[in-house]
Parts: sequence; structure tokens; C-alpha cells
Amino acid sequence: MARERRQYVCQDCGAVFPKWTGRCEACGAWNTLAEEAAPAKGAGRRMRAVELRPLSAAAAPPPRLATGIGELDRVLGGGLVRGSAVLLGGDPGIGKSTLLLQALAALAARNHATVYVSGEESLEQIQLRARRLGLETSGIAVACATGVEEVLAALERTPPAVLVIDSIQTAHTATLEAAPGTVSQIRACADLLIRFAKRHDTALFLVGHVTKEGLIAGPRVLEHMVDTVLYFEGERGHQFRLLRAVKNRFGPANELGVFEMRDRGLAAIENPSALFLGQRGRRVVGAAVFAGIEGTRPVLVEIQALVAPTALATPRRTVVGWEAGRLAMVLAVLEARCGLVLAGRDVYLNVAGGLRIQEPAADLAVAAAIVSSLEGRPLPEDCVVFGEIGLAGEVRPVGQTELRLREAGKLGFRRALLPPGEVTVPPGMERVEIPRLTRLLALLAGGGQPPRHPAALVE
Ligand code: TYD
Ligand code: MG
Repeated sequence: MARERRQYVCQDCGAVFPKWTGRCEACGAWNTLAEEAAPAKGAGRRMRAVELRPLSAAAAPPPRLATGIGELDRVLGGGLVRGSAVLLGGDPGIGKSTLLLQALAALAARNHATVYVSGEESLEQIQLRARRLGLETSGIAVACATGVEEVLAALERTPPAVLVIDSIQTAHTATLEAAPGTVSQIRACADLLIRFAKRHDTALFLVGHVTKEGLIAGPRVLEHMVDTVLYFEGERGHQFRLLRAVKNRFGPANELGVFEMRDRGLAAIENPSALFLGQRGRRVVGAAVFAGIEGTRPVLVEIQALVAPTALATPRRTVVGWEAGRLAMVLAVLEARCGLVLAGRDVYLNVAGGLRIQEPAADLAVAAAIVSSLEGRPLPEDCVVFGEIGLAGEVRPVGQTELRLREAGKLGFRRALLPPGEVTVPPGMERVEIPRLTRLLALLAGGGQPPRHPAALVE
């Protein structure tokens, strides 16, 4: 019998080579090539010709299964698509297994066949969690297994509507000698599972732990293979969990779902603005409410800044929930265009509630919080802020202005600091145009009143 052909796969970038070398020629990493069986030669011969169809004969929208967990369904784009593969990534302990168990229970309650396969926990542990969640009576079928072939053999005759593999790092296929968790294993297992899902119209969830580098399983091989990539994240010490779609073939990317981890599982938070705003009705020095957009949804969030004298030669610039590079830019523009002196001062910036903001539209709110802290004066009452800052100190318009203003109006805000431009402002809301940063400074200069002592933070 001819010896099986072997190939060598870089465990970092996934490049394939016919011979072993010490260094991957594709990405330059050392000692990352691992041996695996090459796909059989001639596989795919005797191909049937594909069928060509006119694009205009567009198919009906894919059938979806609503999980009944509103925040999850929205992030998925309106429910689970049958036959699709979803990767759910996140730190260990963030709540991935909890979320999926709750989703399966909700689906099972609607008479969909659901299967939960765990390679990480024993049946007792899973039952314990289910009891804690109040789900013991739910009709989820559970298996504790890691062998993909064995799992699929059990499902081939009666494929479920939804299958969860928790986690892909513990799965292994007998066709490879590599250890579970290696790129070769992860890729081969995911391939088998995804093909099963497509063949049987099963919606597949793959759980993936994030490695230290912040990637799922080293390279991003999995992200390319699945239809949807969700990340479950949360700040340490916060009960809030954010579910974000970073890729979605069946819905909007960057959609955000908000949950709270309670002692009986995850609860969906339908009005996240209330959560990120904290206590309202106070005028706080160094705080600005940013009217942001997360995915398709407006979210109001408090941005806090503290500017304080430093004893260090290089002052500290500490950021939580925003980009450090973006903060450096805003500080440079404030210094160069507005004459603020920030040398000799530490700057701390924090986005309240554990949210991570990615929009440049937050620039103006960040600048407002910094100037407010520096001047020791709070922003005007009941005021939201948004706008992008340019290097010349100009404030630029941003997208979805009206959506931001409507959300602010709904939550009782009466004033908006925003870039100039044509917009419809909700009734009862005052519009304060800020064409340049210098205008913001004038606004916060307090009309000649002496600055308040920075320690007196609340008016
Ligand atoms: P888990 O779903 O096991 O996380 P992952 O699968 O992402 O590793 O969640 C584990 C954490 O969630 C654990 O620290 C306990 C906490 N938890 C609650 O606070 N309430 C609950 O009802 C449950 C089930 C877990
Ligand atoms: Mg888990």
C-alpha cells in the first residue's frame, strides 16, 4: 500500500508546504510547521459541472430560527440561519457555555431538536449549570465527547436543528495525529462539522477560546471558515457582557448585544444606554455623554477624563475602552490648536460600563471630558456630545446624526454639542454647533467665573 502523502502546515499562518523547514516561508515564524496527512490526490476528479443561474432570480431570504433571546437574535441578524456555522469566541469564564445553553433551552422549548456536545465539562457539571439556570426540564440532548467522527455518527440519522460544539479546541478527528487544539486539528474538525451542518441544514455553533494573543486558536483560520463570528466580551469586575458580531454573512457586522450575568444566568439588556450612563441628573467635572452608534443601534455612554498634575518626566496617558492612539491625537490637537498645556499632566480616560468604543465620532466627547477636567467645570446640563476632530482643530460631521439625537431625546437629554450641518433636531432639544475645538473651549471657559476646585467634582 502506498504511504499516505504528508504535508506540513504552519501553525501560525496556515501556509502549507510539501517539505519540513525550520522557518515558515510565508510568515517567517520559526518552528511552527507540523506534519499532517495531505488530501488524497485525485480527490475531486470526475467533477460534475456546476449549475449556472441568473443573479436576478434571487433566492428567498434564508429561513431563520429565532432563539427567543432578543439580544442574541439581533446580533445574528434576526435569528439563526439553518445550515450556517457560527463561531462564538471569548475569554474562558466569560459566559459562552451559559449563553448557548440558555439559547438551546429556548429553542428546545419551541420544539426544535438541539444537541449540546461538551468536550470540557462532565455531564454532572453541565447538569449543575442547567439546574442553576432553571433549565433541568428542557429537552436539550447532551453528550460529553471530543471525537468529531463519533459525534457525527450519533447525529447522522436524526440531525438536530441546532448543534453546539463546546469547544472546538477540545475537538479532534481520528484522521490526524496532531493534538487537539492545534491548527491542523481545529481546521479539520471545523471542516467536518461545517460540512455536516450544510448537508443537514443544521445551525452549528462552535465555541472558541481566545488565546493570549487575542486570536482564536492562533491564526484566524476558523474565522474564514464560518459564516458568522461572534465575540463575547466583558470587562473584569463588570457584570455586563457584550456580544459583538465581527463578521456576519447573514446580517449586519458590528451589531452589539448586551447582557448582564446574574446568579441565574444571562439576562438580556434591551436598553443599554441606561446601563452605560450610570447615575443621571448630576453635573460631573470631567464627564461627557457620548451619543454613539453600536452596530445599528444608538447607545449613549459616559466618557470620563481626569487630568492631574504629575511628578513623572513622561506623563501618563491611560485609556480604558478607547484607542490610545486616538487619545494622543486629540491631546495633540488640543495643545496645538487651542493652546492647552498638557505637558506635566497625567491624562486618564475611561469609558463607563466596560464598553469599548471604536467610532471616531467619540473624539469631541473625549475632548469635552478632558477640557472639563482641566478647567474644573462641568459640561452644560442634560447634554450629549459627538463629532469627529480633524488635525486642524475642526469638528467634522459624522453619520447617523438623527438616530443619535433621537435616542438622546428619548432618554431626556435636552442639548447636543455637535458638528455643524443640516439636521433635524427632536422637539425640545437645543442644538449647539461646535465648528472648531476653540468653540468648545469658549463654551467651557465658564464666562469668566473662576474655575472650581477640581476636588469638588459634583455640582
Ligand atoms: P461559562 O458559561 O462557564 O463561561 P465560558 O463557557 O465562557 O468559559 O460561565 C462561567 C462564569 O459565569 C462563572 O464564573 C460563573 C458565572 N455564572 C454566573 O454568574 N451565573 C450563572 O447563572 C452561571 C451559570 C454562571
Ligand atoms: Mg465553557
